Amino acid sequence: MKGVILHGGHGTRLRPLTHTGPKQLIPVANKPISQYVLEDLRSSGICDIAIILGDIMPEKVEDYYRDGNNFGVNIRYVYQEKPAGIAHAVGLSEDFIKDSPFVVYLGDNLLKGGISEIVKEFQQKGYDAMILLCKVENPQQFGVAEFDKRGNFIKLIEKPEKPPSNYALTGIYFFTPTIFKMIKKLKPSWRGELEITEAIQLLIEEGYKVGYRIVEGWWKDTGTIEDIIEANILVLDELEPKIEGTIEDKACVQGRVSIGKNAYVKRGALIRGPAIIGENTIIETDVYVGPYTSIGNNTKIKRGEIENSIIMDNCTIEISTKIIDSIIGANSEITANQKGPKGHKLIVGENSKIVL
Ligand code: TTP
Repeated sequence: MKGVILHGGHGTRLRPLTHTGPKQLIPVANKPISQYVLEDLRSSGICDIAIILGDIMPEKVEDYYRDGNNFGVNIRYVYQEKPAGIAHAVGLSEDFIKDSPFVVYLGDNLLKGGISEIVKEFQQKGYDAMILLCKVENPQQFGVAEFDKRGNFIKLIEKPEKPPSNYALTGIYFFTPTIFKMIKKLKPSWRGELEITEAIQLLIEEGYKVGYRIVEGWWKDTGTIEDIIEANILVLDELEPKIEGTIEDKACVQGRVSIGKNAYVKRGALIRGPAIIGENTIIETDVYVGPYTSIGNNTKIKRGEIENSIIMDNCTIEISTKIIDSIIGANSEITANQKGPKGHKLIVGENSKIVL
């Protein structure tokens, strides 16, 4: 079995975060989302992996994963010049896949419990393809499965106005090389993309065996800011507490908290888990870090309160209020205005969202 991680896409819904890198590198609980994907493949025994890179700073992905050695896998990079669709990206992996069965994993999808059991099922049942479905409240926003009266899966429909079921197609697909023949027959859809749902639909129509399995735990597609904050909650909910840094006397650390190497929590600070604090990060006296907060490496929280948020690496925060439900990109500085006329002083990039 081989693996293909999709690392491209437009990422428009995640701007401004995607002005400076692909969305799959956004950290959730201090780890890029695509690293969870890569580790899930590795735990399932899949070590030969192609990463399909997009046109948003692909060099950042290569810098992070390199040849895969540090992550226990072998990585081949394939370049998708324009985001021409998931099926287009999958099609680019044909030379790498050759005649092997393979898993395609969207690099921004998270699955509780991982895929190892499903990989086994796919190999045992001899399917030509297998999809993973998840029950959702808003099927209109997904590819949706239709079943016949006997419960057999018969059709996939992309973003239907009237969904035939509540079962959405997740971003994890199990294929044999037959899928490449179907992809070659596709024409761009109304949105100008080659759609993977259409390629799977062609498999069904041409009589190939397409199996399905329903997700038992949670599945999260991290396409929007709200999704990322929710993914951070879901992952932190399973956090293994680990204290590698220093907690001064009279600092208070409650619940499940992970504190990285050389991090320092000063007296009077309160960290209430689940929360993760990265390496070399300093939490100063009287700071409050509340539940579901991830703070990256080399960050200084000098004053203020933070809850249910992601603060990335190399940030400085010194405020007299509280930050909630926020994502703060790396190298940002948020400080209270102590001099000059009262008011908020903002230097904000395009497509930012600020609620004061
Ligand atoms: P989407 O989230 O559906 O698309 P997008 O990245 O273009 O996002 P937006 O709607 O916010 O502009 O993509 C699903 C996954 O597939 C995601 O991990 C990106 C990846 N992808 C590619 O690798 N290549 C592509 O051509 C497309 C369209 C998506």
